[in-house]
Amino acid sequence: MVVPYQAEPATDFSNKENKKAFQDALKQVKNDFGVQRPLVIGGRHIQTDDKTTSINPSEKSQVIGHVSKAKVEHIEEAFSAAEEAFESWSEWSPEERAELLIRAAAIIRRRKHEISALMVYEAGKPWNEADGDTNEAIDFLEYNSRSMMELAKGKPTLDREGEHNHYFYQPMGVGVTISPWNFPFAIMANTTLAPVVAGNTVLLKPSGDTPLVAYKLIEILEEAGLPKGVVNFVPGSSKDIGDYMIDHHKTHFVTFTGSKDVGKRITERAAKFQEGQNFIKRTITEMGGKDTIIVDKDADTDLAAESIVNSAFGFSGQKCSACSRAVIHEDVYDEVLKKSVKLTKKLTVGNPVDENYMGPVISQSQFDKISEYIKIGKKEGKLKAGGKTDDSKGFFIHPTVIADLDPEAVIMQEEIFGPVVGFTKAKDFDEMLRIANNTEYGLTGAVITNTREHWHLACRKFNVGNLYLNRGCTAAVVGYHPFGGFKMSGTDQKTGSPDYLLNFLEQKVVSEMF
Ligand code: ALA
Repeated sequence: MVVPYQAEPATDFSNKENKKAFQDALKQVKNDFGVQRPLVIGGRHIQTDDKTTSINPSEKSQVIGHVSKAKVEHIEEAFSAAEEAFESWSEWSPEERAELLIRAAAIIRRRKHEISALMVYEAGKPWNEADGDTNEAIDFLEYNSRSMMELAKGKPTLDREGEHNHYFYQPMGVGVTISPWNFPFAIMANTTLAPVVAGNTVLLKPSGDTPLVAYKLIEILEEAGLPKGVVNFVPGSSKDIGDYMIDHHKTHFVTFTGSKDVGKRITERAAKFQEGQNFIKRTITEMGGKDTIIVDKDADTDLAAESIVNSAFGFSGQKCSACSRAVIHEDVYDEVLKKSVKLTKKLTVGNPVDENYMGPVISQSQFDKISEYIKIGKKEGKLKAGGKTDDSKGFFIHPTVIADLDPEAVIMQEEIFGPVVGFTKAKDFDEMLRIANNTEYGLTGAVITNTREHWHLACRKFNVGNLYLNRGCTAAVVGYHPFGGFKMSGTDQKTGSPDYLLNFLEQKVVSEMF
């Protein structure tokens, strides 16, 4: 019997002991800088000549380490290893698989600061965001393990005179996980291990920006005793191996989190049948957002400003859930804008090791892209805060507020994935809802209001997968806020929900006549 699921609490860094422990971890992790990590295929550690060099986005000249790059022949080996491992792994009982994941969660808990500290360096995450990421991975493992144990009971079906029916779940086979850099531990761990606890085996291709954080999970799974070949670690360039993995006739499912363009490409490619493929591939995609906070005319304007600023600038706005649009009733527009600008100007930007609120953005290409959007925004609206960019040492962009935008402006429509929020004004609640729904995305949103009827209306009409009342639009918690979006935000297979594992299971019915 396992204890009921509870989310892992955030580390309180105002506690001196916790702070010291994290500082020690930041020092400790540095001893590994320059490390060479292998591919792991069927339990074999394989060093290749061609390697990805992972750098610190806060100090781009600092190398964190090197990771071997898989080529097509490695992918072939990994498919064979995963196929072989599936034979025995799928025979483990759901409880046995769940227990192994709970053991892995316990190891993560013990090594929590080490993992989070590496994220501070490799992903540029501030302490609290890195801690939240590691905690969320623990939550996913704990939650999915319990979910698997529950599903193992099967679902009730009716029996009738002379007939007994049984409805249950079975794993599918080998699948592919392509994970992002923005939640380099939590989303990577969930999208790798949810299929695994369901009895499948996986090829994991982590983001090229954060492969070392992903390798921590491999170490932990080895320590936990996961059989060889169940998770195969195959980082590499998308050009060399990405399409190959998706197209492969042995791929039963692809779970992807990343940009809309890549998600569309994966969906299209996976839909095409390959020689030797005698099943339909499933794709589970989470592709981004253009998330809106609506502020009503009777709203608490302090709460509105705090919610907008925290949701827009936490982890430099690099969350699919980040608030990138504030749609505000004309009666309170000036007040909320003024308060938001004031809060924004207080935020510190710099190396996250030094406990700044905001660190860098992840890479040169993201820095360049966001900088371009800021230029566009300055033309389309009025720059009220930030706008400063500096990539001399690391990829730093100051939190940027652009006001008085047309709802159809580029800044209000396209995903920026950086610390930029656009403000626009509306005359009533209906107009605010119309604007909130006017993008191709539908991931998160929030409504700041004291009018109950407006909240009810938003529940029906605000077309997003995750809607919040009187708070920000980020920070969904596993099990409490199943997470996923509509429209071009993805396939809406809610992570951290009782239904999530069904994506990786086949439903079977056996009927026996007496
Ligand atoms: N699940 C993450 C959040 O809610 C992306 O912010």
